[in-house]
Order: sequence, then C-alpha cells, then structure tokens
Amino acid sequence: MVYFRLSPVSGSGLLLLCLVLGADRSYALELNLTDSANATCLYAKWQMNFTITYETTNKTYRTVNISDVSTVRDEGSTCGDDQNGPRIVIHFGSGFSWIVNFTKNAPDYLIDTISFSYNTNDHTIFPDAEHKGNITIDKRVALKIPLNDIFRCKSLLTIEKNNVTQHFWNVLVQAFVQSGTVSTKEYLCDEDKHSTTVAPIIHTTVPSPTTTPTPTEKPKVGTYSVSNGSNTCLLATMGLQLNVTQDKVSSIININPNTTGVTGSCHPQTAQLRLNSSIIKYLDFVFAVKNENRFYLKEVNVSMNLVNGSVFSIANNNLSYWDAPLGSSYMCNKEQTVSVSGTFQINTFDLRVQPFNVMEGKYSTAEECSADSDLNFLIPVAVGVALGFLIIVVFISYMIGRRKSRTGYQSV
Ligand SMILES: *[C@@H]1O[C@H](CO)[C@@H](O)[C@H](O)[C@H]1NC(C)=O
Ligand SMILES: *[C@@H]1O[C@H](CO)[C@@H](O)[C@H](O)[C@H]1NC(C)=O
Ligand SMILES: *[C@@H]1O[C@H](CO)[C@@H](O)[C@H](O)[C@H]1NC(C)=O
Ligand SMILES: *[C@@H]1O[C@H](CO)[C@@H](O)[C@H](O)[C@H]1NC(C)=O
Ligand SMILES: *[C@@H]1O[C@H](CO)[C@@H](O)[C@H](O)[C@H]1NC(C)=O
Ligand SMILES: *[C@@H]1O[C@H](CO)[C@@H](O)[C@H](O)[C@H]1NC(C)=O
Ligand SMILES: *[C@@H]1O[C@H](CO)[C@@H](O)[C@H](O)[C@H]1NC(C)=O
Ligand SMILES: *[C@@H]1O[C@H](CO)[C@@H](O)[C@H](O)[C@H]1NC(C)=O
Ligand SMILES: *[C@@H]1O[C@H](CO)[C@@H](O)[C@H](O)[C@H]1NC(C)=O
Ligand SMILES: *[C@@H]1O[C@H](CO)[C@@H](O)[C@H](O)[C@H]1NC(C)=O
Ligand SMILES: *[C@@H]1O[C@H](CO)[C@@H](O)[C@H](O)[C@H]1NC(C)=O
Ligand SMILES: *[C@@H]1O[C@H](CO)[C@@H](O)[C@H](O)[C@H]1NC(C)=O
Repeated sequence: MVYFRLSPVSGSGLLLLCLVLGADRSYALELNLTDSANATCLYAKWQMNFTITYETTNKTYRTVNISDVSTVRDEGSTCGDDQNGPRIVIHFGSGFSWIVNFTKNAPDYLIDTISFSYNTNDHTIFPDAEHKGNITIDKRVALKIPLNDIFRCKSLLTIEKNNVTQHFWNVLVQAFVQSGTVSTKEYLCDEDKHSTTVAPIIHTTVPSPTTTPTPTEKPKVGTYSVSNGSNTCLLATMGLQLNVTQDKVSSIININPNTTGVTGSCHPQTAQLRLNSSIIKYLDFVFAVKNENRFYLKEVNVSMNLVNGSVFSIANNNLSYWDAPLGSSYMCNKEQTVSVSGTFQINTFDLRVQPFNVMEGKYSTAEECSADSDLNFLIPVAVGVALGFLIIVVFISYMIGRRKSRTGYQSV
C-alpha cells in the first residue's frame, strides 16, 4: 500500500508526501488540513478508484479504470469561513479533479457534494473519445454526521452517475474538527454496521488513535433445554456473548436466543448442548462427570461464519468451568468468561446450567459461583485501593499511548 500524506507547509499551501511504499498498487490518501493558527480543521484518510465509460469516435463505448492516484496534488483545500464550509480539493493524473464540500447544520455536519472531473482530451487515457473536454459530475451525497464525530467506513461505498463509478473505502473523515483535536468518537456508515449480517457485532476494537470501543450491550438471556424422549435432561439459561479475535481485532457477537436453534444429547457420563444460528454452524458445550459426584464444562467446539466470509472453527476439550455437585445446578449471575482459546472466548451473563439429573424439567438447588458470593463483602476496601491505583496506571498509560500514537501518526 502506498500512503500519501497531504499536509500543510507554511507559505506554500499543501505538500504531498509519499509515506509508505508497498508491492500492491493501492493508494491511500491522508489529508490533515489546518487553519491559520495551525489547528486541524479537517482530517481525512481514504482510498478511492474510478471507472469511466466513454463513447469513442466509432460509436462504441470504452471503459477505463483509474486506480492510480499516485500523482495527487492538493490545491485549494480550505477550512472554509463563516460563509463557506470546508472543502477537499484534489487533483491527480492529467486533468482529474475530485472535490468534496462540507456544510454545518447543527447538531450535524454534512458531506455535501462530491464532484469528479475528467478530461477526455487526454489521448493516452481516453483514446478516440468522441466528445473531448473537461467533464464534471456532481453528486449530492448529503451524508449526515454528528458534529465532533469522525465518520468511518471500511466498506466499499459506490457512487454511480453518468457512466462514472466512484469507489471509496477505508474512509475516515471529520470536518469541523473542534479545538484542533480529531475526535475519537466514530460514526460508522450503515455498510459497516450491516456488514455484520444477522448477529449484531457490537464493536471491533483496533488499537489506533481514532477508534474507541463503544459500550457493549448485554446479550439477551435465553433458556435452552435438551430432552431425552419426553424428559428434559439438560437445562441452560444464559446470555451468551462470543468474542472472536483475529489480527488483533475483536468481534463481539451477542447470541439472540430467539433465532438460535438448540439440539443436544444426554448420557450418564456426558451431556452436550449444541446451539446454531444463521452464522453459527455449531456451538457445542460438552459437560462431563468427575469423581462420580461433580459435573463441569469440559469441552467447547465452535464453527462460525465471519463477516469477512471466512469460517472460524476452534475446539478445546480440556476445559474446567462451571463445576458443581451432581444433582444440583451451577449458577453465576455475574459476567463470567470461558476462555476457549487465545482467539475465542465466551462471556456469560445470568448463567444457570444443569447438564445432569434434571428432575421434572426444573433446576435443582444451585451452587453459586464465587463471584456472586457474599464473601465479596470482605474485599471492597482492598479493591478500592487497588482500583484507585489501577485508574492512575491506566490514565498514565493512556497519556503515554496518546503521545505515542500522535507521533506514530507522523510516520504512518
Ligand atoms: C495535523 O497537523 C497538526 C499540525 O501540524 C498536528 O498538530 C496534528 O497532530 C495533525 N493531526 C493528525 C491527525 O495527523
Ligand atoms: C504553523 O506551523 C509552521 C510550520 O510547522 C510554522 O512555521 C508557523 O509559524 C506556524 N504558524 C502558527 C500561526 O503557529
Ligand atoms: C472502436 O474503437 C476502439 C478504440 O479505438 C477499438 O478498440 C475498437 O476495436 C473499435 N471498434 C470498431 C467496431 O471499429
Ligand atoms: C476495470 O476494473 C474491473 C473491475 O476491477 C475489471 O473487471 C476490468 O477488467 C477492468 N478493466 C480494464 C480495462 O482494466
Ligand atoms: C476499486 O477498488 C475496489 C475495492 O478495492 C475493487 O473492488 C474494485 O475492483 C476497484 N476497481 C477498479 C476499477 O480498480
Ligand atoms: C474541470 O472542471 C472542474 C470543475 O469546473 C475544475 O475544477 C477543473 O479544474 C477543470 N479541469 C481542467 C483540467 O480544466
Ligand atoms: C458544494 O459543491 C456543489 C458542486 O460543486 C455546489 O453545487 C454546492 O453549492 C456546494 N455547496 C456548498 C455548501 O458549498
Ligand atoms: C453510458 O454508457 C452506455 C453504454 O455503456 C450508453 O448507452 C449511454 O448512453 C451512456 N450514458 C451517458 C450519460 O453517457
Ligand atoms: C475479547 O477478547 C480480547 C482478546 O482476548 C480481549 O482483549 C477483549 O477484552 C475481549 N472483549 C470482551 C468484550 O470480552
Ligand atoms: C424475542 O422474542 C420475544 C417474544 O417473541 C420478544 O419480546 C423479544 O424482544 C425478542 N428478543 C429479541 C432479542 O429479538
Ligand atoms: C437418552 O438416554 C439414554 C440412556 O442414558 C441414552 O442411551 C440415549 O443416547 C439418550 N438419548 C439422547 C437423545 O440423548
Ligand atoms: C440449525 O441447524 C439445523 C440443521 O442442522 C437447521 O435445520 C436449522 O435451521 C438451524 N437453525 C438455525 C436457527 O439456523
């Protein structure tokens, strides 16, 4: 990937810097527009390409792809003033221009209009063009973003008009930046939200200065049961949240009990609960008996389709969670984590399970997890002190992290 950084240089407008060179010819543009006081007023980073179909002299149509924006120049981007909003003005190649203007309409701002111009006088790019000249296509986008939020869209955005297709992806943009500080509050495009398909993926956290984890919603609690003949032999009530980590990005998936299928099996020494849904091929909880008097969660197997189209599968048959005496149920109202592997963990909420000896379809007495227990009464003071210390540590590392990521930015 090739990064271009467009940044201000005193006296001479804006300078283009080529930052990273890579093998594949994919270009990312970065613009940090500052006002007269050197405070950032607009920040943008994005990738784009274009497809243009034009008529040739022999009355056929020809299509050209413009994906090389490596000769980009920034001439005329401005922060705007009281009358005019800010605008990004980019020129590249021979006669291509790309202009975006923004308007403020509290409590939002708009990506107003995207104008793309190409010049068919250029014989090398547009051979035998029937109509020669500078052609401009204005497309009103009117995309609304809350003021002080940074818009993010990893997904492919497409604008099609007058035989020109514009593609944008990996977009980050904030206009009307307040007090010179680019926001960490992201406003996601619908495409990024919907690309999570059926199960809502609540957040993806990337350690980067412009992303913040949004508060995670608790999953809905569902009751799942397995029967042997006409008798219920396994009961499980829980809110389930899956956490899949790939390439340092965690995807949080809440299981919706309403759209989840349940099967399973019960045997004297082992019992299995299998859940499935449109994205989860299977999620198995396998319970076993130990020392002839206790049960525990021994195994978890999962296979699911991820948003990026890949299949994620993991199995661990050497677990030891949810341990309780046979004939009772295991209960834990507090959030608990079943760590299946370094890349897969399950967070449970309001958990109660009984995989063996279920009588009349009801739970037997519960053995509560220690997290729920009253013993916690004894700990608050120690926790309070530890927490205060932790807050200070986190704050300091946050400040260091901030400074690091700032300087990191300079050398993208
Ligand atoms: C943008 O440029 C300003 C001034 O040079 C700098 O203080 C700021 O950190 C830059 N912001 C980003 C996100 O690169
Ligand atoms: C803005 O920054 C440039 C170079 O970084 C510096 O030469 C100039 O004096 C600064 N202007 C203001 C108003 O701070
Ligand atoms: C029309 O012109 C284009 C571009 O010069 C050429 O590739 C194509 O073969 C021509 N078609 C015909 C039918 O002459
Ligand atoms: C233009 O790009 C499209 C999609 O990437 C591809 O199918 C097509 O072959 C390309 N056309 C040319 C002329 O490179
Ligand atoms: C533009 O980029 C998108 C996303 O990378 C890609 O799918 C598409 O084929 C590209 N089109 C052209 C004309 O290069
Ligand atoms: C083409 O028209 C646009 C819009 O009027 C303008 O910004 C651009 O500079 C023109 N390009 C050329 C090469 O004349
Ligand atoms: C934005 O640009 C479009 C096309 O150049 C223009 O019609 C529109 O009036 C502009 N809007 C603002 C608020 O500047
Ligand atoms: C777009 O291209 C098609 C052929 O692909 C042609 O029939 C049509 O007239 C063109 N439209 C414009 C607005 O140029
Ligand atoms: C998801 O897993 C990752 C990696 O183990 C961890 O850092 C993150 O805190 C987890 N998130 C949640 C909400 O459990
Ligand atoms: C599940 O279904 C119940 C009753 O049909 C409904 O009240 C609830 O909102 C649904 N929950 C979800 C998460 O769709
Ligand atoms: C039902 O229980 C019997 C005896 O424990 C066992 O052999 C059988 O496999 C069980 N069936 C199911 C569906 O769990
Ligand atoms: C679960 O899997 C079964 C068959 O394996 C399938 O018929 C059913 O539709 C699936 N349930 C859901 C909710 O996807």
